[in-house]
Amino acid sequence: MSAVDIHCHILPGLDDGSPDAATSLLMARTAVENGIGTVIATPHWIEGEHETDPIVVRRSVQELQAVLDSNAIALAILPGNEAFICPDLPDRVRRGDVLTLADRKTHLLLELPYENLPMYFDDVVFRLQLQGITPILAHVERYRYVREDWRMLDRWVRRGCLAQINADSLHHGHGDEVVQSLVDRGLVACTATDAHDAINRAPCGIWNGNGLDGLKREV
Ligand SMILES: [Fe+2]
Repeated sequence: MSAVDIHCHILPGLDDGSPDAATSLLMARTAVENGIGTVIATPHWIEGEHETDPIVVRRSVQELQAVLDSNAIALAILPGNEAFICPDLPDRVRRGDVLTLADRKTHLLLELPYENLPMYFDDVVFRLQLQGITPILAHVERYRYVREDWRMLDRWVRRGCLAQINADSLHHGHGDEVVQSLVDRGLVACTATDAHDAINRAPCGIWNGNGLDGLKREV
């Protein structure tokens, strides 16, 4: 069964990921060669700084899908966002300003600050959950407070969050003991590529864990 990549900056020109259609095409070929059958495109969304327009994201997905189809590349592209946390994120999601994964309103890829956890984190998670949305915490291995205390992530997972790690944190000989311990403790739902290009941060090397069964049924 082919894998679903839930975190990938494959859409051209929308953020610091793929700069152009040629790169997106190359990323798509690389994804397929690495067993990926579906990519949820997740351009950054940062309130007041980089608010990707959902209409533009959806249109870009359609355009890239058309290019892939005409090149006989068997890869499905679906819309999404990597949403940076802010106090009114649940309201912005409810209003449709931010895209949930695959536009299904069941899962949101949520990015946190690397150094300090915001005071409003619990509130944002709770309000998203009240809307029936499961937060998937993007690349949890990058957050200092998670690396220093795995129990913090354990609490969030018990409260219904899912955790994603980047595939290259497990591979490429990083020897990251923290990442491995998070996986061994059963705290990680899935890996994703978080690919930004076709060479240095390419779409490859993922597995999907059980935590994503619900979303995978959806897509
Ligand atoms: Fe990302």
